[in-house]
Amino acid sequence: MALRQIRGQKDEILRKKSREVNIDDITLEKNQSLIDDMLETMYHYNGVGLAAVQVGILKQIIVIDIEDGKGPYILINPKILKTKGEKECDEGCLSFPNEFGKVIRPTEVQVEFYDRDAKYVKLKAKDLLAQAICHEVDHLNGVLFTDKVIPGTLEYVEQKQ
Ligand code: CO
Repeated sequence: MALRQIRGQKDEILRKKSREVNIDDITLEKNQSLIDDMLETMYHYNGVGLAAVQVGILKQIIVIDIEDGKGPYILINPKILKTKGEKECDEGCLSFPNEFGKVIRPTEVQVEFYDRDAKYVKLKAKDLLAQAICHEVDHLNGVLFTDKVIPGTLEYVEQKQ
């Protein structure tokens, strides 16, 4: 495994749309090691989620770990089928290490995807997991949380090194 460099907010790749992964290619070594590297990178920077585009790869691959004891979740070619409710959430992003703000997210989502073994999964997610899935699926479409932040709530926080 290896740490990958996280693309920052000014990198134009973050505005590009990610491509679907061919289902037969999910188990290929290059995609499996990308997933392992994304997990290592996410944990290293204490994130709850990371999309492949954030390490410069335009593939529809997301990793999430909300420390619910069930993760990490690996979502390949995710599609949000249904959403329910609305909630104001505190949000940040590893591509914006110093910025935090409030965003409206659904309280519940139903999502379908393939896992890292190329198995089809349909999942109902609530609260933080639903929020993380929405945030990361936005990345696959070139959308950033700062696009959706409630005006006046974006804060700049100096990181302690
Ligand atoms: Co993000």
